[in-house]
Amino acid sequence: MENTDLQQIVEQASQEIAAAENEHQLNLLKSKYLGKKSTLNGMMKKIGTLPPEQRPEFGQKVNKAKKRVEKLLEGQAEKVKEAAYRKAVTQEAIDLTMPGRKTNFGSLHPITKVWRELEDIFMSLGFEVAEGNDIEDEFHNFDALNTPPDHPARELSDTFYIKDDVLLRTQTSTVQIRVMQSHKPPMRFISPGRCYRNDNDASHSPAFHQVEALVVDEGITFADLRDILNIFVKKMFGPHIESRIRPHFFPFTEPSAEIDIVCVNCRGKGCHICKNSGWLEMGGAGMVDPNVFDQLGIDSEKYTGYAFGLGIDRIAMLKYNIPDMRLLFENDIRFLQQFK
Ligand code: DAH
Repeated sequence: MENTDLQQIVEQASQEIAAAENEHQLNLLKSKYLGKKSTLNGMMKKIGTLPPEQRPEFGQKVNKAKKRVEKLLEGQAEKVKEAAYRKAVTQEAIDLTMPGRKTNFGSLHPITKVWRELEDIFMSLGFEVAEGNDIEDEFHNFDALNTPPDHPARELSDTFYIKDDVLLRTQTSTVQIRVMQSHKPPMRFISPGRCYRNDNDASHSPAFHQVEALVVDEGITFADLRDILNIFVKKMFGPHIESRIRPHFFPFTEPSAEIDIVCVNCRGKGCHICKNSGWLEMGGAGMVDPNVFDQLGIDSEKYTGYAFGLGIDRIAMLKYNIPDMRLLFENDIRFLQQFK
């Protein structure tokens, strides 16, 4: 009688365990068949009510049934684990043959590229980099640069005035003054930055970029200026590119010059970019006017210096063959993507 009961229990457990699909179901079955309230446990408790001679045999049988159920549970637990693993391997596997997702990389703006490159070049030549202010006063933008009150550059048509005596700087030459106010010679600085003028066409933008340079020491000559410009031009554009200077006038330098480089497009033969001259204008330069030194308390008998200012946008246009300055400021993605 009890034998068949036990067999039935084991049989039923075996069926239910074989149907279990996960750990949770197996845990429920474990407590159903082996837990405190299970039939098998109840039978174990019944042992005491049997005649003593039957107890060992009965006990062994119940124990055997329990062991059997335990084995079945263990076996099924293995199977469930294995099935879960297989499922994970097949369903969550990475398909290494799938094409990758495209990532879009940005690129540096051509002005940023040239800006960084010229900082590297001048720093390798022993220059420090100074920062100026976009918003300036008339003293730093004009007066201290020896620009008389009636100079045409001061006119409202060229200069963006914010209010009387407060303006957007029209040139990075303002930083020459700031550096000379805060340092003593010898000085060797460049200062790249943004400038503003009321101008807008294919070769002028109302906001543009210049790099200013100032070197002040005893015995600085025009030959030093010529030398540094040559070195810079060759490092920036290549060893075959020559530069030249032409006499010019700037209020804060004496003598003054304009700097040209050989047309990077036609190499001097003459083309539409250089208007058939073979040369392209890149900026202004000169020896610091003693008036500028005197105003700032620098001994003009003892010290001489040179300064120059180059158009960064011009350099970028020449270097990357950009025909219209406005392209540099329109942020057209089709243009910018070409500088990757
Ligand atoms: N500041 C001048 C301009 O914007 C350029 C310039 C000329 C800068 C002569 C200089 C210089 O440092 O010496 O047109």
